[in-house]
Amino acid sequence: MERKKILITGGAGFIGSHVVRRFVNNYPDYQVFNLDKLTYAGNLENLKDIEKKENYTFIKGDITDADFITHLFQEIKFDGIIHLAAESHVDRSISNPLEFVVTNVLGTVNLLNAARLIWNGQYTDRLFYHVSTDEVYGELGDHGKFTETTPYSPNSPYSASKASSDHFVRAYHHTYGLPVKISNCSNNYGSHHFPEKLIPLMINNIMNNNPLPVYGKGENVRDWLFVEDHARAIDMIFHMGRMGETYNIGGNNEWKNIELVIFLCRLMDRKLSRQEGESEKLITFVTDRAGHDFRYAIDSGKLMSELQWQPSVTFEQGLEKTVDWYLSNQDWLNNVTSGAYQKYYQSMYINR
Ligand code: NAD
Ligand code: DAU
Repeated sequence: MERKKILITGGAGFIGSHVVRRFVNNYPDYQVFNLDKLTYAGNLENLKDIEKKENYTFIKGDITDADFITHLFQEIKFDGIIHLAAESHVDRSISNPLEFVVTNVLGTVNLLNAARLIWNGQYTDRLFYHVSTDEVYGELGDHGKFTETTPYSPNSPYSASKASSDHFVRAYHHTYGLPVKISNCSNNYGSHHFPEKLIPLMINNIMNNNPLPVYGKGENVRDWLFVEDHARAIDMIFHMGRMGETYNIGGNNEWKNIELVIFLCRLMDRKLSRQEGESEKLITFVTDRAGHDFRYAIDSGKLMSELQWQPSVTFEQGLEKTVDWYLSNQDWLNNVTSGAYQKYYQSMYINR
């Protein structure tokens, strides 16, 4: 029997690589295709352990290239799509919003058009699953949580582009009946996370005794989820979620940035056999992010009650696993922080 063909976009990135690994290892009856442009954020080293498996195929390509996407879909006729490819960093979206419109909006619409074309109204056992973010809901004050019915109110160019792509996915379901599902997740952390984001950037800087740049007063709050728990939620929603529905995914794990950074410093003092308090001295408060959302928090009640999903690790366990991974994979960190990263870091942080 022919294997089901599952396309995962952005599979060489942080979350995508965890989703690809999970699908390749857990579903030998699927042929998993990883389509990735390999931008600065995409790294095939992330998939070394599964790259030789016979149910895995890598395709280098750009979702913004409509002709390429159309031909690819006509050639392979995917049964299911899990769409993660995106520009994902808020700070970069503030410097270069157009790139986010092109990749996140146009790229998503190209994929929707190609799925429509090849499925041609035959939707049994077909699915377009769009992976999105809690940032589409805007920011919260001190209380409350985002639910699936919270009105969209994106504040950054990144979240506006993701909100727009979510709207297109919904519109293709409503207008053309395309079988879709969407999930909106909170901040992920874990292995293979590019060190432009808070946790891996701080781990890298602590290891190298560099300043730890905390934006503003560090009072902003994020809800952190271990990336493997996100990948498991995606798996459950892909297979068991209801068609046309949105599911929120979160860790029920809110931290003020400054408290998280101090917690991480203490954990790393132990791991690096430093005196307690030594790494904390590296904390430096820097100019705030423009339009910085104050607080995100997710109500995952729908996912928990419909699909019995639960996070599998506590934050303490997940963070320790993460730090251990970075400490034993310093080559990975050195590779991704050479060259273009240095330029990015200079432009973002020096004289901030
Ligand atoms: P990432 O930046 O680590 O990876 C993005 C991947 O997409 C990279 O491999 C990159 O090469 C690829 N890509 C970018 N442009 C492309 C293009 N034009 N064509 C093909 N591939 C392209 O991102 P991530 O943090 O793993 O996020 C993955 C998805 O999950 C994104 O859609 C993001 O919005 C969403 N999300 C992320 C988080 C988080 O905390 N990181 C939380 C919720 C949702
Ligand atoms: O909420 C989900 C989103 O989480 C995802 O959709 C995004 O793709 C992902 O990047 C993440 O967005 P954030 O902006 O919340 O993540 P980031 O790691 O960039 O920042 C987390 C918090 O830490 C935020 O309040 C800004 C702050 N920060 C960040 C950096 C990089 C600092 O204080 N210093 C820093 O150097």
